[in-house]
Amino acid sequence: MAYSSCSSSLVRILLTSFIGSTFVVLASASNFYQDVDITWGGDGRAKILNNGGLLTLSLDKTSGSGFQSKREYLFGKIDMQLKLVAGNSAGTVTAYYLSSQGPTHDEIDFEFLGNLSGDPYILHTNVYSQGKGNREQQFYLWFDPTADFHTYSILWNPRRIIFSVDGTPIREYKNPESLGVPYPKSQPMRIYSSLWNADDWATRGGLVKADWSKAPFTASYRNFNEHACIWSSGKSSCNSNTPSNNAWLNQELDATSQERLKWVQKNYMIYNYCTDLKRFPQGFPPECAINKSS
Ligand SMILES: *[C@@H]1O[C@H](CO)[C@@H](O)[C@H](O)[C@H]1NC(C)=O
Repeated sequence: MAYSSCSSSLVRILLTSFIGSTFVVLASASNFYQDVDITWGGDGRAKILNNGGLLTLSLDKTSGSGFQSKREYLFGKIDMQLKLVAGNSAGTVTAYYLSSQGPTHDEIDFEFLGNLSGDPYILHTNVYSQGKGNREQQFYLWFDPTADFHTYSILWNPRRIIFSVDGTPIREYKNPESLGVPYPKSQPMRIYSSLWNADDWATRGGLVKADWSKAPFTASYRNFNEHACIWSSGKSSCNSNTPSNNAWLNQELDATSQERLKWVQKNYMIYNYCTDLKRFPQGFPPECAINKSS
């Protein structure tokens, strides 16, 4: 009896680790050597490690560092696992975003504002269309983002943008074109990420400065995953006969996800431009009408 239950749990363990390793193989199909270019921060501040499976950015008093994706996208679902600067990260900002180029660019932003040890990071989000942003929502997280890797995702399709953390939606931005507000849908974007010093504003509005005796500050990245329409030589890979595995192109929040979104917005949202009366005494921007926090 004891023997057989032992062996069946052994089988289960073997099976689980087999399934587990299959997933690891799929997930680690991403390779930072193939997927990104290091664009900022010489002298080894940005490093690709583990045969392309891990990327680290660092910041010291002289410089920060950053990378960008080799590919451009026109719509996509992009996941990345990040482990943020641990300990006293006050004054540091880790930015992770999609952006097109030029003065009327579009942009979809995650920015992580560091803090003193034990004090909460702020996750800052924004959406730019045709060069205009000012659409901030900010959140605390329900876990310590420096203790382990967590998945931060941007779903960008023609109808909506959904920001998610570990699969939980934290913000939905619906296409507001019917209200006369432009929406990012015609300029291809790249992924950008950087770690930089913003101690003039980031932590408690700039009151807390970076402690350079703790430098270098380091953030880590892994398991980059894209389901996207790749933009290349003026053409989208999704133009002809978009395959059925592009479900993300029409994805919307189901009832469960809407409940999760409500939970985050009720308990963890600390700023929403759409409710900032001081900033918009003459009335909120038009898109707020369809992007009310539920
Ligand atoms: C840092 O901690 C303070 C105190 O808890 C908090 O008010 C602030 O929102 C936190 N985050 C940032 C980025 O300032």
